[in-house]
Amino acid sequence: MGKLHAIALGCQMSAADGAELAEPLLRRGLRWTDSPQEADAIVIATCTVRQHAEDRALSLIGSLKPWREADERRVLIVSGCAAERLKGWLQERFPHVDLVVGAKSVEDYPKLVEQALGRRFDALAENLEAFGAARAPSPTGSPATAFLTIMRGCNYSCSYCIVPAVRGRELYRPVEAILEEARRRLDEGARELMLLGQTVNSYRGEHKGRPVRFAELLRLLDALPGLKRLRFMSPHPFFVDERLARAMAECRSVCPQLHLPAQSGSDRLLKLMRRNYTRGELLRKAQLLRRHLPGVVLSTDVIVGFPTETDEDFEMTLTMLEELAPASAYCFKYSPRQPTEAALWPDDCPPSLKEERLARLNEAVDRLTEASLLAQRGRRFEVLVEQGGFGRTPEGYKARWNGAAGLPGELVSVRVTGASRRTLLGERDER
Ligand code: 5AD
Ligand code: SF4
Repeated sequence: MGKLHAIALGCQMSAADGAELAEPLLRRGLRWTDSPQEADAIVIATCTVRQHAEDRALSLIGSLKPWREADERRVLIVSGCAAERLKGWLQERFPHVDLVVGAKSVEDYPKLVEQALGRRFDALAENLEAFGAARAPSPTGSPATAFLTIMRGCNYSCSYCIVPAVRGRELYRPVEAILEEARRRLDEGARELMLLGQTVNSYRGEHKGRPVRFAELLRLLDALPGLKRLRFMSPHPFFVDERLARAMAECRSVCPQLHLPAQSGSDRLLKLMRRNYTRGELLRKAQLLRRHLPGVVLSTDVIVGFPTETDEDFEMTLTMLEELAPASAYCFKYSPRQPTEAALWPDDCPPSLKEERLARLNEAVDRLTEASLLAQRGRRFEVLVEQGGFGRTPEGYKARWNGAAGLPGELVSVRVTGASRRTLLGERDER
């Protein structure tokens, strides 16, 4: 019996693609293994959003050469965003890779795998009929959460971002297909759905002859029996409006949490980044959300050292963060990506300055995170257990507790007594 291992290096979309790409192999009769050394086939989902992500992918691929060459029946598949950017080069540079599938080819993937593998694993399958429902473990590691890709690609052209180049224009899955998959995942035991897309809230579809925007899709999903929690990643601030805020507030399952990637607090840079909103507009969106969803927890992404960034621009980003008051933020040093518009401009912020600004930003974020966690002391949360003694609140806070650990997928009540770095600490509330 063959075994399969998948490694995802990028965002949640990439992890979901990795799980999807594992399925045709699982259907061929391979069994999942958590150990790459034990595997007969490995699928890697690569990321290229920053040079660092791509370097990690290349070093992982390189490090698997001895594994691949130890047995000629083994299979190494490299997929995802870096695969799309580097396709031919990758194949030449790493001849031990059996198949390179770019992020744009996810839909054709089952066919590509058939072509590449021929009858390779049929011989290993002992009982093919039993594998219809085979699935890779959820990218979160928790069986209670199902990832559901609702759209792919991005119609934006942020000057720093490679996603439109490697993922192409937006493609939306039909509403019916989304609802059907959601029902199936809930039947299989999921309690939480994570909707995925590069700009997930620009979703457009049709249901019973009526246009469906993202807000309506949330309402349709919210009506599904068995669904406890509905989340989505990653929204674009431009499509955060009253309609979405209302739907979020009115749907019982939608979690009071939103990722609002600001990128910068300087209007001059936001314009150069082609973000399609100003600092003021972004902050007003946050206010709108807080008005409709009191207690909503925000997170954000920020880039430092973008071409031409001055001390003043950077200070504007710091003050924007204070005003936005996210509970967490992912801060990145600008990394020029070919072929993006900004890669044509001089990368003129010296590495040491990028480093210094990043450190200052991270300090500010740590303070905001700590304040947001400590403000939860004394509150009771309904926590969805991911592993015994660990889970997440509806707001997305990680929580650890003393007392009965609970089973994955169970909802337990936890009273918060304190916090450690990025996690709430508490006591299981048995009442
Ligand atoms: N350099 C640095 N960070 C980037 N991001 C996207 N492109 C780049 C880049 N070229 C960040 C953005 C985005 C997150 C996924 O990665 O903050 O929101
Ligand atoms: Fe990385 Fe962007 Fe691709 Fe996600 S979509 S894997 S962040 S390049």
